[in-house]
Amino acid sequence: MNRNIVCIGAGYIGGPTMAVIAKMNPDRKVVVVDINASRIEAWNSPDFALPIYEPGLVDVVKEVRGRNLFFSTDIAAAVRECDIVFVGVNTPTKTFGRGAGMASDLQYWEATAREIKGYAEGDKIVIEKSTLPVRTAAAMEAILNDHAAHRFTVLSNPEFLAEGTAIRDLLEPDRVLIGGPQDEAGLAAIEEAVAIYATWVPRERILTTNVWSAELTKLAANAFLAQRVSSINAIAGLCEATGADVDEVARVIGADKRIGPKFLKAGPGFGGSCFKKDVLNLVYLCESFGLHTAAEYWHGVVKMNEHQQERIVSRLVREMFNTVANKRIALFGFAFKSDTGDTRETPAGAVARLLAEEHARLAITDPKALPNARRDLADLQDVVFEPDEYKAAEGADAIVLMTDWRHYPALDWRRLYDVMRKPALVFDTRNCLDAAALRAIGFRVLNIGK
Ligand SMILES: NC(=O)c1ccc[n+]([C@@H]2O[C@H](COP(=O)([O-])OP(=O)(O)OC[C@H]3O[C@@H](n4cnc5c(N)ncnc54)[C@H](O)[C@@H]3O)[C@@H](O)[C@H]2O)c1
Repeated sequence: MNRNIVCIGAGYIGGPTMAVIAKMNPDRKVVVVDINASRIEAWNSPDFALPIYEPGLVDVVKEVRGRNLFFSTDIAAAVRECDIVFVGVNTPTKTFGRGAGMASDLQYWEATAREIKGYAEGDKIVIEKSTLPVRTAAAMEAILNDHAAHRFTVLSNPEFLAEGTAIRDLLEPDRVLIGGPQDEAGLAAIEEAVAIYATWVPRERILTTNVWSAELTKLAANAFLAQRVSSINAIAGLCEATGADVDEVARVIGADKRIGPKFLKAGPGFGGSCFKKDVLNLVYLCESFGLHTAAEYWHGVVKMNEHQQERIVSRLVREMFNTVANKRIALFGFAFKSDTGDTRETPAGAVARLLAEEHARLAITDPKALPNARRDLADLQDVVFEPDEYKAAEGADAIVLMTDWRHYPALDWRRLYDVMRKPALVFDTRNCLDAAALRAIGFRVLNIGK
């Protein structure tokens, strides 16, 4: 068995993860492959115009690309040459047939399993990096080892990085999780995978479990994080109704060591490709095992999230004299969080669509996500995309701050006020602006949970 690594899937997970693995394992060749040729071309671009934006990613890629990190569309050759195969393909929510809207769509993933089997010329360790329903490894192993000339051992190594802090999370992970079969071959394969991470991650942070625990842990971890966001947002509505301040409530709740302060920030709700998909996947799993009350419990987390975006729009419309028709509304930020250009499941998308239903005219600005925003909202009529915040605000009746980009509080808010129509409203859905200073300029200010 050689030490080379291939990763199938050059997306938000495959690219950054393999760049860091290559950086920390200079003696291993790491090849990232994808069926999407333009994505691979972007990873290979001479001027490092990478297909995704992540702080610090370019520096790592500059250091290792061409040294021991390679991007390619030649899946067959890469699989032949590497004995350790990571699978980081997408596993979106199924949009058709049984489990539509809930279960994972495993077609890309199954195609990958068949590719690996077709191209392999020796034994392989296959490592699931994608987030998958529990017991997927069993299905993968069944496909791979059925009438196979070689032996395939399937491990689960779910990724816990968060977009926007991916490189830091990869370099200093809270934990790395590797699940594998508890037989001799499985335990040996787990050790091979541990060795990849042990070059930089302290051994006590590399946790090993059986495969099913690893697969389920990833879904459970995301469900717990999403649940905290929905919990504080559920309290935010009550704060608005009662005169309490959600930031004060969160500060005091979080001071309890049993609860802790992180992930207690009220806002427009969670977004990104993972939380909703993974919670719904958990709901589907609970349902399929007859655990209906557990399914309903977790489903509430997603419903609460969607409700938060509806609540933002209802409140905005109410505050704008019950109509936003023909009013210009500037959305500041479209990415689902700062430091990423990713707009998958972004709350700003839901808010934009709800406002479009009310016949608002939209101006959308974002420092990294405008190309994705343009694609996501291509079917909407009255919307402009404007990289310059001051131009986006020109003639606007309201600014709705959707993403907590760090430079937004530092904008010249007096200048923004001057170019807007009066009365000028700011709805700060991230509670990151200085509301008192904005009021002193003349703005009407709305916050989440206040
Ligand atoms: N994005 C995150 O922050 C994050 C975090 C943890 C886990 N995950 C999980 O990682 C997985 C991948 O997520 P992502 O955000 O990187 O998705 P992505 O869509 O950005 O990337 C997936 C890539 O796989 C490629 N692909 C699909 N089928 C293929 C095939 N048969 N052969 C070769 N390439 C193929 C696609 O072209 C695409 O470029 C998902 O299961 C996701 O839940 C993502």
